[in-house]
Amino acid sequence: MDPINQENLFTQSLPNDLEELKKIVLQCHLCDLAKTRKNVVFGEGNPHATLMFIGEGPGATEDETGRPFVGRAGQLLTKMIENVLQIPRAEVYIANIVKCRPPNNRVPTPEEARTCIPYLFKQIELIDPKILVALGATSYRWLTGDTTPISKVRGQTIEFQGRILIPTFHPSYLLRNPSKKKEAYQDLLKIKELLCEV
Ligand code: URA
Repeated sequence: MDPINQENLFTQSLPNDLEELKKIVLQCHLCDLAKTRKNVVFGEGNPHATLMFIGEGPGATEDETGRPFVGRAGQLLTKMIENVLQIPRAEVYIANIVKCRPPNNRVPTPEEARTCIPYLFKQIELIDPKILVALGATSYRWLTGDTTPISKVRGQTIEFQGRILIPTFHPSYLLRNPSKKKEAYQDLLKIKELLCEV
């Protein structure tokens, strides 16, 4: 069985209500990240958002606060949403592949990602966004199973479970590589255009 289908079996047993799902996720101990986390970062935003951003996993500030993308990368993401897309951050939904901080901000292990991703798939099903933005390679890879480098797929519109998926660079990568902001800006313009069409 391919991994996505396996994950969907568990997804089906999760509640069909975002608040009920959140209660379950906040108590999750299915992987070792639960041992070192301070807070579970479920995700936040408009529960009926048309546009949903998906990052990799919480960092230190997110772990402290229980909110996604509130550190330096989060400030950049907020600017991308509010200054380029020209929509309030609260209008979109923001979540991650894993809901608990991997120690020292390492990339989530395949086991951690596989254990956690059914929660994300259920969030996507319940929020029902038209457009998903995968922020960075880890997000893109775990959503699609495709290991093509993010630099090759960024800005492409990909059909994903009846929705449009657009991969782009992760804001942390943009902070380390500011010359890539130009390409990310192009991706955002494309997202803005699509938002007018859906
Ligand atoms: N990076 C992520 O991928 N997610 C966050 O929530 C914060 C930083």
